[in-house]
Amino acid sequence: MILVTGGAGFIGANFVLDWCAAGEEPVVNLDKLTYAGNLGNLAALKGNARHLFVRGDIGDRAQVEALLSVHRPRAVLNFAAESHVDRSIHGPTEFIQTNVVGTFALLEAARAYWSALPEPERSRFRLLHVSTDEVYGSLGPHDPAFSETTPYAPNSPYAASKAASDHLVRAYRHTYGLPTLTTNCSNNYGPRQFPEKLIPLMIHNAVTGKPLPVYGDGLNVRDWLYVGDHCAAIRTVLERGRAGETYNIGGGAEMTNIEVVRALCRILAELKPGREYAAQITFVKDRAGHDRRYAIDAAKVRRELGWAPAETFESGLVRTARWYLDNEAWLAAVTSKEYQTWISLNYAGATIPA
Ligand code: NAD
Ligand code: TYD
Repeated sequence: MILVTGGAGFIGANFVLDWCAAGEEPVVNLDKLTYAGNLGNLAALKGNARHLFVRGDIGDRAQVEALLSVHRPRAVLNFAAESHVDRSIHGPTEFIQTNVVGTFALLEAARAYWSALPEPERSRFRLLHVSTDEVYGSLGPHDPAFSETTPYAPNSPYAASKAASDHLVRAYRHTYGLPTLTTNCSNNYGPRQFPEKLIPLMIHNAVTGKPLPVYGDGLNVRDWLYVGDHCAAIRTVLERGRAGETYNIGGGAEMTNIEVVRALCRILAELKPGREYAAQITFVKDRAGHDRRYAIDAAKVRRELGWAPAETFESGLVRTARWYLDNEAWLAAVTSKEYQTWISLNYAGATIPA
């Protein structure tokens, strides 16, 4: 079996759902259920004996050690994190706690477990750490895309906390020989993403008649990947990646934010006509320290492991928009009071009504 952390969040839940649909191997899912974690994401697994949900913290070493010794997984996949750049600007403490201290505790628990494993389980064990392209910092318009050898230059507290966790993973490989794998992926989008991130926030605001708040001039560039393609890449790296290696994952779909928002408005106009969505676009105050451009060079994972995305940006965006339109109850459940408080804080002065 495998142990997944953060499997009630956006990417983790998609991963667990895909995992359970694809095979028989059980999964233990450890998640703290922060504002971003939602058991509703896992509703389809209710009654599935191959999925065991455990509420807990990756920073609780004793809890992780107990889970490892009871369930004896062949792999640990670490999705658990604080993941939103804007929240890290308003309050970085949780980012340091979970992403740095929590990953450290997880590594310590995994090291103790792995060290005591008999062969061949010891050689087969893997710890896969899910990370981001934001650790590499910001690109100029003509710079080559981030490769696995691009120096780290994180700019936000979020990116710095993820970079720190990547460095710890690297050190545990180098110093103790722990069989690690690290993936650095570009921006994901798809079903079950919390509506604080660009694409689900825009869908939510669009259909509820609110302004679509584009930061700054809207020309910041992100390289988008459909979440199902990210999950497929993680499965591929887990099965075929070389221990100790890092793999950059991305869809080769660089877009400015304003292009993304306009594409969404066009798709929504087809799927749910009745509003002039593009007229809701509003330029608002820029994010502090806003990285200008991210782009991933995914040549290594394509060449060595044969992974390639199945969705285009357009096809993935249609699937995503359709999912949000079909899952109004999910959206209503996660846009709770805490969510309204966040929106009021982050968009204060931007005349975005909660
Ligand atoms: P998310 O915020 O949607 O979900 C994070 C999950 O982790 C939540 O379920 C939360 O409850 C859980 N969690 C938080 N702190 C925890 C702790 N201390 N112990 C246990 N569980 C905890 O995030 P996401 O977008 O699904 O991202 C998952 C991972 O992928 C993160 O490590 C993130 O850095 C990375 N990543 C995300 C993107 C993206 O575009 N979303 C891109 C590249 C990499
Ligand atoms: P986001 O989804 O927060 O991901 P990240 O900051 O990790 O890339 O933001 C994606 C881009 O969209 C980023 O350039 C910031 C921008 N953005 C807006 O313009 N308006 C918004 O309301 C949000 C949340 C993001």
